[in-house]
Amino acid sequence: MTGITARREGAPLSRANPFRPGFGVSPRVLAGRDELLEEFDTALDEGPGSPLRSVLVSGARGMGKTVILNELEEAARVRGWLVVRLPETGDLVEELVSTALPMLLAEHDGERAVRRRLTGAGIAGVGSLSTTARERYEVRETAATLLARLLDVLAGHDTGLLFTLDELQAVDRESVAAFAALYQHLVRDERDVALAAAGLPVGVGKLLQHRGTTFLRRAERVQLGPLSTTEVIDALRRTVTEAGGVVSEDALLTLAEVIHGYPYLLQLAGYRAWRDADREPITVAHARATLPVLSERMGRLVHEPALRDLPQAQRSYLEAMSLDDGPSSTGAVAARLGLTAQHANVFRTRLIERELITPTGHGRVDYALPYLRDHLRRLAATE
Ligand SMILES: Nc1ncnc2c1ncn2[C@@H]1O[C@H](COP(=O)(O)OP(=O)(O)O)[C@@H](O)[C@H]1O
Ligand SMILES: [Mg+2]
Repeated sequence: MTGITARREGAPLSRANPFRPGFGVSPRVLAGRDELLEEFDTALDEGPGSPLRSVLVSGARGMGKTVILNELEEAARVRGWLVVRLPETGDLVEELVSTALPMLLAEHDGERAVRRRLTGAGIAGVGSLSTTARERYEVRETAATLLARLLDVLAGHDTGLLFTLDELQAVDRESVAAFAALYQHLVRDERDVALAAAGLPVGVGKLLQHRGTTFLRRAERVQLGPLSTTEVIDALRRTVTEAGGVVSEDALLTLAEVIHGYPYLLQLAGYRAWRDADREPITVAHARATLPVLSERMGRLVHEPALRDLPQAQRSYLEAMSLDDGPSSTGAVAARLGLTAQHANVFRTRLIERELITPTGHGRVDYALPYLRDHLRRLAATE
């Protein structure tokens, strides 16, 4: 390992593992998601008023929400837009007023930037920059005023401001409402703004029921789903070959089978296979060997947290499904639970809303996420 990384720069191939099996880490090669990115690009170009400028992304853990936000930020930056990442904790508007906006203004407001240069504050680190900025603008200037000023400056360059907000389900509702009000005014005034937020399905659903966030309901809802087999295979192949590795077509197919279109597993399976192959070509055997780890990690990092705050009745529904090796008949599940079809249907609907199960037609449902069956069976076996 050290022998490889210690090679001189410009050495032909660095064989460091190119996969990134972690949450919030952008992949080397992005699989799929072109449609969403294209739509957002168009929305930015179309000018104020385009409905696709406000996007609300929901999806399970590991489905690629944070990665998508990063991509949308990049799309905005490429156009010269500024990006404000709203914090997941604390008061969103307060954060804008006290830190984010003063810093951006200090940097981009020409008139004031001159003053900053004269006072010599510009070369200092971020900490002192924000202190000077704070003195200059003072917290009393409202977020609206600061935003208006910043957007005036940006309008001079034909660019705008993108707000992003991750883990939306965890943000304080009042705080989101206050920010939504602010954002709504900017949209009404046809300012060059955009918003991309992401969160877990149920949390986002609940948040939108809150009165103050009505406006967000009009945002474009994007349910991030699994990637197609082709998208998975293309991304795997490119990730491996661009890093100087070799993978057989059969191995790619096997990897796609164990990945089930799930972005986090794409990275994890790729990572493990690459590591096991140890600089030799990746084979079907390497691909197959990733399976136990994929199942275990999904259980621990995705299913366990998702099931933690699941009402018992819904959990029982999921457990009853685990007796089947494939899609379950809703009638059979109701019978196993000793419930009427109508009653069982309530839980079925909730689980669909949570994106934990999906209807597969003909009165059948299946797990929406890979290895959930394994996880539930493991739990049942240890009880
Ligand atoms: N479109 C994609 N193509 C390839 N890998 C992806 C893609 N989206 C996400 N990933 C990978 O999946 C993992 C989880 O992504 P992340 O954005 O953190 O998920 P979430 O925020 O939904 O929990 C990361 O390792 C990331 O690199
Ligand atoms: Mg995330």
